Order: sequence, then C-alpha cells, then structure tokens
Amino acid sequence: MKISVIGCGYLGAVHAAAMAELGHEVVGIDVDSARIESLAAAIPPFFEPGLPEILASATASGRLRFSTDISEVADATVHFVAVGTPQQHGSHAADLRFVDAAFVALAPYLKPGDVVAGKSTVPVGTASRLSARLASTAPGAILTWNPEFLREGFAVTDTISPDRLVYGVPGGDEGARAAGVLDEVYASAIEGGTPVVVTDYATAELVKVSANAFLATKISFINAMAEIAEVTGADVTALADAIGYDARIGRRFLNAGVGFGGGCLPKDIRAFTARAEELGRGESLAFLKEVDQINLRRRQRVIDLVVELLDGQVNGKRIAVLGLAFKPHSDDVRDSPALDVAVQLRGLGAKVVATDPQAVANARRRHPQLRYTDDVLTALDDADAVVLVTEWPEYKALDPVQVAGLVRGTVIVDGRNCLDAEQWRAAGWTYRGLGRR
Ligand code: UDX
Repeated sequence: MKISVIGCGYLGAVHAAAMAELGHEVVGIDVDSARIESLAAAIPPFFEPGLPEILASATASGRLRFSTDISEVADATVHFVAVGTPQQHGSHAADLRFVDAAFVALAPYLKPGDVVAGKSTVPVGTASRLSARLASTAPGAILTWNPEFLREGFAVTDTISPDRLVYGVPGGDEGARAAGVLDEVYASAIEGGTPVVVTDYATAELVKVSANAFLATKISFINAMAEIAEVTGADVTALADAIGYDARIGRRFLNAGVGFGGGCLPKDIRAFTARAEELGRGESLAFLKEVDQINLRRRQRVIDLVVELLDGQVNGKRIAVLGLAFKPHSDDVRDSPALDVAVQLRGLGAKVVATDPQAVANARRRHPQLRYTDDVLTALDDADAVVLVTEWPEYKALDPVQVAGLVRGTVIVDGRNCLDAEQWRAAGWTYRGLGRR
C-alpha cells in the first residue's frame, strides 16, 4: 500500500519505518529539516533499539523516503497523522496546534476514498471535530482514529506486532471501508493473531488515554503503598509480589520507586483530567490529580532520603546520580524523575555528577548547569552519596564491593528498588530503597 506518515517524531518515525518493513511504500513528512535529513540517512534522531536496522533496510529497499514537502503525500491513499500533542503552557490541557496544522496541510492533497488515520493522543471529541472539517476541506476522504500503544524501548516490536489494534471509525459504509483499509495495512499483525477492536471515534480516543491513566494509577497505587510501608516498617516489594500473584491484579507495573515520567503518562493524565473538567465531569477523574501528586511526591522522597543519609549536610557534597532517562533503554528525559532529582539536588548545593548510558546529551541540552559523565565509574569516584534513579542493567550489575572502593561515603539511595539490599549492606553500605525496610 502507499502510505504517508505526517510527523516523524518518536511515534511517526517508528511507524513509517515499521510500515515500510512490512512491505508498504511509505513517505514520512516532517517540518523539521534536520530530523528529515537524519532519517533519510537512516540515522534515528533518538535512541530506540532495533530502529536503526529497519530504517537502514527500508530506505535501502527504496520503500521508505522522507521529505519536508507535504505535496509528496499525493500518491498515498492512507495517511497517518502522528504529530505531537504536548501539554499546553500554563494549563494541563493538550496543545492541539500541531494536529490542526497537519490536517490543514494535508487536506489539499487528499483524494476521495483516501483514509486518514489519526495516531496522535488527543482529547476525546477531537476526531469528530476534524472529521466534520475534512468533509468540507477534503470531500470523500474518510477519517479514522487509530491510537498507538507503543512503549519506548520496545517501539519497533510494539508497532509490528501490537497487542491490539483499535480503529475508531464513522458509521455506515465509510466506516466499514476505513476498517477494511486498516486491516490491509496491518494484515501481517492480524494474521499473527492481533485482536482488532472496531469502534466509534470517542471510544477509540478514550481507549488510549484510559489505558495510560490505568497504568499511571497502578504505579501510583504501589507508590502510595510504599508511603504506608515507610511508616509501618513493611516492605513494598514483598507486598507487590504477594498481591501480584492474584491474576486479577498482576505483578507488572507494580514496581515502587521514584515514579513515572516520559512523554506520555504525565501529560496524558493531566490532559485527560482537563478534558473531563471541560465536559463537566471533573469529579470522575479527580483521582488522577492524586495519582499525579503521589507520583511527584516520590521524587521529593528520594531527595529527602539523600538529605537524611548525609545528616542534613548536602551543600558541597559530591553526589553521583545514576540515570537520567525516564526509564532504561531510552534516551528520553521528558518529565524524567531521574533528571528532576539531579537538578533538585544541585539546587540544594550538592556537587552532582550525573551519568546515563544514553541520555546525557539530551539532559545536558535541558540542564547545562549539571556536571555529566558518560562513565559510571567517573560519576562514582569520590562520591559522598550515590543515588540510583534509572534501572539500567549496568547499574543493577554494579559490584557493591568494587564501588565501595571508589566512593568517599558508602551511602546509596536506590530510587528504583532494583538492587539487592542485603548484598549492598553486606558490603558495608547504608542502603535505602523506597518503601523497603
Ligand atoms: C507508556 C505506555 O506504556 C504506552 O502504552 C503508551 O503508548 C505510551 O506511554 P512509555 O512512556 O514508553 O509508554 O513508558 P512505560 O514503560 O509505560 O513507563 C512509564 C514510566 O513508568 C517510566 O518512567 C517507568 O520507569 C515508570 N514505571 C513503570 C514505574 O515507575 N513502575 C513500574 O512498575 C512501571
């Protein structure tokens, strides 16, 4: 099939490359010429395992190209809109200006029968508004909403073999036609057993935000239990294991720690709350504000623990911060709890030396005032305290005996509860996790 992808950020770049990998002919469009040049040279502008390989093979095959010229979508019959919907400045609501601009730019090139598939995460009600607008700007084109559930670090696999496909379609023949076209696009996943949910626009839009709200709630739930564990002497990790054995609850996303960050969960729960308030149903999602607050409190808890372990004397102390990305296998520092902790510790007068296997460049761009190193051993050298805030495998594998020989103070705050506390204590460390004895 001939496909265009409008917006080549995280979502769009992966989607374009994955669709070409599946055999489709794809053009990726973005207004950022540096990004397009990089993608055209098969160099992803961000770290994502597996993406360099499929970009290289798809561009070499001639099935994938990139351009800043929107008129190049003219040959395509399926158009995915994958632009960003960041949080508005000064508000919790989503900023839809890039989505609106993409539809304005695309409309003149749409032909009757073309299918436009929205992938961006949007407030409920957006698709029906855009569909009404397309009816006059591009008569005969059909809008569907086809949310994306990819996880950073697993984006390629999640796109090629998603755990479900959701199509929000209009009623009648148009809806059936749009669903049929998307079935063709995703034929290999469907043959592999991926379930398809065909529904209306509002449900499809809500599926995406409610999935993220659920995940965020699950994480904040266990972090709230960590807060209770901290005042009762209980252990949140054992608690998570025990409740996780209940198949109705499940152990995944029950890892207590410094909390969630990234480009999706924080902004999506805020935008969802803002949309519910606009709809006069603010009370239905009021709990998500609490979910957000619990999450942000965990960052403060990590800082408080460091202060406590340094007997209140943080000023001038050298602190090694291990991790900057919002999660391992990513270079993304958007709303990263790890970077936030590093910045706040420096604000308290600490000499922070921060490290991350992938995210140093992105962190430095946002916070050039911090001191960075790519080498974890350099970060640890002479440190008065160590804070682990992103659970990269190489940090989990650190040898407490070896590290004790590098630092000045053998105190560690494990902000991801990912180290073996007993092993670190046995090597002479004062170890503190979150919600752990
Ligand atoms: C998320 C959703 O999982 C994905 O479906 C959606 O498309 C985009 O948002 P992503 O942002 O890549 O994906 O990260 P995810 O793996 O969900 O992790 C989010 C955050 O939660 C990370 O900061 C992670 O460290 C944190 N987390 C996750 C926890 O603190 N505890 C857990 O148990 C799990």
